[in-house]
Amino acid sequence: MTTPTIHTATPALPASSSPGASRLTQSRLQKAYSIEDLRRRAARTLPRAVFDFYDGGAENERTLRANATSFDGLHIVPRYLVDVSEIDTRIDLLGRPASLPLAVAPTGAIGYGWPFGDVAIARAAGAAGIPYALPTSSTSSIERVAREAPNTRLWFQSYMLRKREFTMGLIERARNAGYEALIITIDMPTGGKRERDMRNDFGLPFRFTPRNVLDFASRPGWVLRLLRHGMPTLENMIGFVPNTVDSSTIASSVGKNYDPAFNWDDLARIRDYWPRRLIVKGIMHPLDARRAADIGCDAIIVSNHGGRQLDGAPASLQALPAIVREVGSALEVIMDGGIRRGSDVVKAMALGAKAVMVGRPMLYGVSVGGQDGAERALFLLREELIRTMRLSGLASTSEISKHILLNAGA
Ligand code: FNR
Repeated sequence: MTTPTIHTATPALPASSSPGASRLTQSRLQKAYSIEDLRRRAARTLPRAVFDFYDGGAENERTLRANATSFDGLHIVPRYLVDVSEIDTRIDLLGRPASLPLAVAPTGAIGYGWPFGDVAIARAAGAAGIPYALPTSSTSSIERVAREAPNTRLWFQSYMLRKREFTMGLIERARNAGYEALIITIDMPTGGKRERDMRNDFGLPFRFTPRNVLDFASRPGWVLRLLRHGMPTLENMIGFVPNTVDSSTIASSVGKNYDPAFNWDDLARIRDYWPRRLIVKGIMHPLDARRAADIGCDAIIVSNHGGRQLDGAPASLQALPAIVREVGSALEVIMDGGIRRGSDVVKAMALGAKAVMVGRPMLYGVSVGGQDGAERALFLLREELIRTMRLSGLASTSEISKHILLNAGA
């Protein structure tokens, strides 16, 4: 497999683009008491098209809803008169300690929510002691995030693009920049049908239409930030289309260039090539989990891409138990999709997840207040996790098992 290195010069973060929020925003953030509060604020802060891009799913959004409602059907049976004065939320994740059983899921185009929002979220993750996954379609480059968030455990998420040598170049860059793990997302042989984006004229490339110009005009604060910092660029993709300098053209090319021929043999070759931890994201079937284990992957992420790909796929939480039964002792099983509460983290762990990832909660937070907003999202999840554990008689994450659930094992 050829592995040319493609260097992208990314200048230092402009001094004016502090990933943090103003004093006023910071004090308002203290009044966001849940991830849903952050979501509502993001809806008021962002143009409709951007909010819907973050918030929406594919087609009827059945899988998106299922991710959220799947947690409603599970119940934690609390135990009392246990010493819960000290709560230990730490876990070992991919061979290193994490302060919480959490990691930040890769989400593209974060810069539309907040300038260099990728850096802001990566720093928030580092401050919380959890890993951050940078996507291929990030608005801050691999090197920029490594440079600006030096205290964060970084994972790089790659899609397989038709131009294999370009993809391998990105992976090589992540290796050179010291990323500790590579995530290969496998659930995108083609893009999901996201109808909110179609209705809102939202696409990458971003097109100015009468509809979305009006939409933008209704969010002057967001427009001001955009004018100050310019249109976000998919920095990793510079060089993807020869002779292209316009980020919009690049983004469009990425979307059309997922490689539907990518298969298990290719993944095995990546396993041979990448020397550090390898994670496969988008596993929904136990037999796919088994194949990932057989080729030597270190972890899988049970995920339906936040309901953005196959509408009709089960909720990740529903898919989790069978996958844990199949490979739980062979590799680490991480799960994402619909985590909005600390109790959701406990429920996923009770069904066998080693850790969970969060996507949209970070997007809502960062869109409202940059790094402060991202930190608020993680603060809320952490605080709720500790409270749930204390209320359930669980002093340590190691005590979370299916026995805490109503009808355990039924
Ligand atoms: C995503 N997700 C995603 N996944 C991935 O592997 N590469 C990517 O570039 C993106 N981009 C992306 C953008 C946006 C706006 C969203 C909401 C999601 C999926 C993401 O990693 C994760 O699987 C889900 O977001 C998890 O569900 P929740 O936490 O958002 O409910």
